[in-house]
Amino acid sequence: MALLISPSVLSCDFANIQRDVEMLNSSVADWFHIDVMDGVFVPNISFGFPVISAITRHATKTMDVHLMIANPDRYIEDFKKAGADILTVHYEACPHLHRTIQAIQAAGMRAGVALNPHTPVSLLEDVIQDLDLVLIMSVNPGFGGQKFIKNAVNKVVQTKDLIHRTGSKALIEVDGGVNIETGLQLVKAGADVLVAGSFVFNSTNPQQTIQDLKNLK
Ligand code: DX5
Ligand code: ZN
Repeated sequence: MALLISPSVLSCDFANIQRDVEMLNSSVADWFHIDVMDGVFVPNISFGFPVISAITRHATKTMDVHLMIANPDRYIEDFKKAGADILTVHYEACPHLHRTIQAIQAAGMRAGVALNPHTPVSLLEDVIQDLDLVLIMSVNPGFGGQKFIKNAVNKVVQTKDLIHRTGSKALIEVDGGVNIETGLQLVKAGADVLVAGSFVFNSTNPQQTIQDLKNLK
């Protein structure tokens, strides 16, 4: 499968969201990565439903929504209404993870589970066959622009192995500190989707940067 690129809108210019969304529409990006932070599960607050709906109105690609919030079950239908196609929750935020995954899929979205850097891949063994996506965090969630944690590469290899052993159809996405160098390591390890925020939006030519990530193999 071709590598997918999901630029993180968290690093866009919020005073020019429509302009940046249109830039992504006309780039080779595959998905829009939407980071939702609640100031409880993570020590930062990003944005909520009005902003997500505004992005959805202009975006022409898959909406890949990453929830860094406590108790995500309360809002599953609201994220569907705001335009989410893929809804990813954190393992660490879901005491009834299996139920949460079922609820996301019943609402008509693909379901992902994110693992913080300290959370082992092996904890997904009993849900991997139900998942559409595994999101390996390569930074501690909460902020863009952080340094890549190298152990994420090992976790991609472990996730790939788990997927092969169980016949799961889940995609492996990696989020945090992705650039050309770390992206290459992740692709070689078996990543299917790369998220990139600051690397794309801080570059002088974001569309070319997305193309450069897309060309990694
Ligand atoms: C981190 C977010 C990431 C973030 C990535 O909590 O989940 O999606 O925006 O930003 P970069 O690519 O700058 O590390
Ligand atoms: Zn994210």
